[in-house]
Amino acid sequence: MSIPSPVFYPPFNVTRISHTVITSRDTVRSRDFYTEVYGLVVTEEEGDVVYLRGIEEACHHSLVIKRADTEPLCEVVGFRVLTEEELEKAERFFIAENLAPRWVDAPFQGRTLRVSDPGGVPLEFCARMDRVDRADSAHNAHKGACGLRFDHMQLHAADVLSAFDLYNRLGFRISDYMTAPGSKNVLGIFSYRKDIPWDIVFLTGRGPRMHHFAYVTRSFQNMMRACDIAGQMGYGDAVERGPGRHTMGHVQYVYLRDPDGHRGEILLDAPHQMLDMEIEPVEWDVSGINRGGWGLPAQRSWFEETSNFPGIETTAPEKPGAPFSLEDYVEQRAAQQR
Ligand SMILES: [Fe+2]
Repeated sequence: MSIPSPVFYPPFNVTRISHTVITSRDTVRSRDFYTEVYGLVVTEEEGDVVYLRGIEEACHHSLVIKRADTEPLCEVVGFRVLTEEELEKAERFFIAENLAPRWVDAPFQGRTLRVSDPGGVPLEFCARMDRVDRADSAHNAHKGACGLRFDHMQLHAADVLSAFDLYNRLGFRISDYMTAPGSKNVLGIFSYRKDIPWDIVFLTGRGPRMHHFAYVTRSFQNMMRACDIAGQMGYGDAVERGPGRHTMGHVQYVYLRDPDGHRGEILLDAPHQMLDMEIEPVEWDVSGINRGGWGLPAQRSWFEETSNFPGIETTAPEKPGAPFSLEDYVEQRAAQQR
């Protein structure tokens, strides 16, 4: 099965991935982690809900943390559309797809449409949020990584091509994809709507589950400061992978687990502009995927531990019967650590 062709005239205009909602058993602890380590700004605290944003964001929030006694969950994968009119088109599209969209009251957001994708991932679309002042000039208040803005999310899916089908039809273009040598099985898909190589990423694994969300920082020094502060706060073990340099994205990164186990990434700004028609998806053979990158291999937890979405069934990937699967890759990298 090969990757799909891009859809240049989608049924409605998604502009970018923009926000997420996660749950926490202790929102004070979680708030302190994201403000001190990521350097996010608290826009609002309402009871057991904390609304945070990156320092350059003029929207009310990009990360919402809600207190819950359940296992820590990812409740929403949020997207922006260009105008309110696009929301009406989105509703018509999802009704035609029998996906039962519904309007919800989401505080500090304009009209908000919720729907679950065919795999059950809870999605949310809005055209606007309350506007707030950017905090990027308040230098004396900057902390941690000085996280600039919400950048992308990565989901696990048992079959990444099937999981990507809806997003392909919504106009998400593939920047890079990972294949198994020999079989050409597609193991990972990086896709985008905004003008950089990623908004939403799908990686083969038990899913659908939320693997990580990411904030951009301006410098490697900021990234290192985030790690130092995490260590100082007693979260040294939360630095799960990196710092290192990705091969496919070419950017430097670090992955951290928050106090509830949710995984986030802090990374440098994207290396490529992705607007032009001649830019085509780049295939990466996973057996050679570390070419050009550096850093220790990912821990097994990075491949296997993720945040669940509420109340949906997950499926393990079938081993594709290829000479080289993602499982083989995990085994190979784990063996290198032994
Ligand atoms: Fe990422």
